Amino acid sequence: MTRRIALLPGDGIGPEVLAAARRVLEAVAQRRSTDFEFDEVSIGGIAIDETGSSLPQESLRQCEAADALLLGAVGGPEWSDPTASVRPEQGLLDLRQHFGLFANLRPIPVFSALMDFAPLRSDLLEKVDILFVRELTGGLYFGDRHEQGDGDFAYDTMAYSVAEVERVAHVAFKAARGRRGKLTSVDKANVLASMRLWRRVVEGIAPQYPDVELEHLLVDACAMHLMRSPGAFDVVLAGNLFGDILSDEASILSGSLGMLPSASLGEGSFGLFEPVHGSAPDIAGKGIANPIGAILSAAMLLRFSLGLEDEAAAIEAAVLGAIDAGLRTADLAAPGDRGASTSEATEAVLDRL
Ligand code: IPM
Ligand code: MN
Repeated sequence: MTRRIALLPGDGIGPEVLAAARRVLEAVAQRRSTDFEFDEVSIGGIAIDETGSSLPQESLRQCEAADALLLGAVGGPEWSDPTASVRPEQGLLDLRQHFGLFANLRPIPVFSALMDFAPLRSDLLEKVDILFVRELTGGLYFGDRHEQGDGDFAYDTMAYSVAEVERVAHVAFKAARGRRGKLTSVDKANVLASMRLWRRVVEGIAPQYPDVELEHLLVDACAMHLMRSPGAFDVVLAGNLFGDILSDEASILSGSLGMLPSASLGEGSFGLFEPVHGSAPDIAGKGIANPIGAILSAAMLLRFSLGLEDEAAAIEAAVLGAIDAGLRTADLAAPGDRGASTSEATEAVLDRL
């Protein structure tokens, strides 16, 4: 059976890490009797340069024809003029909204071979295994009322409906049920009305999951606890902005942002998969970007959108094996050591697949 995967390389190191992920997917297809058809899709700053839009109509049409989307990264200094009318990031936000991808899953594992790279003591890291469930199509990013800021006043609105909180909370409760049975819901209910609604809705559906232990944390306290006792967390549910910030904070527990994948899902199996890292313009084009976040995103794509659990697990095992055997890209290399290049790192994973 042929599955269609849309590849959206985007900007900066996006094309380099996506090429690596594609090689891994091709190797999987060769060894199993699955066939993947790849379609390259333009998005982000490069799409603005080519067409004036960060998500051209043609790109959207290509994505609609696919079973799943794999994205590199968008953005860069060329397109960061605050007065610009189109921004690369808008293309990604439009994609999430267009496909109703309201649940963003960001696992934060700790790789025991990489513990020394995290800025926390290793005794704090031992039990770390966190899954962030970030609401992705509502909240402050998508409040109906935005004021551009061309004048002397600007605003954004933070709004959540009961239905928006319910659907993402169900994803988080179900995930917790399949893990260690603990859910931390993050809000700012002591100050914000939308966050009081958030807490009330999460509290309201908790009785449907009696096997999950629910706690509520205010976002500021959560930021602190993530560093003080990261091993105490299992699933963390947060709104769009808070989830964005906290997941970047927690990513350093893994040793490098370059290692981390994500999945953005809606009601069905269709999803958008992307590394958590950005376009890293400072190292773009040098062939030294860490491809692991993109490769692990490809594994999540196989699991969630294509139902290929064994293949996903095989990729994850190959990555772990390579790291345990000493694979270190530049972001993880010792001072003075140049580290493995993007293609060497990809080879190391392919060798173990
Ligand atoms: C992320 C990114 C995006 C976000 C940007 C690029 C729009 O930071 O995926 O975390 O803020 O959601
Ligand atoms: Mn982010």
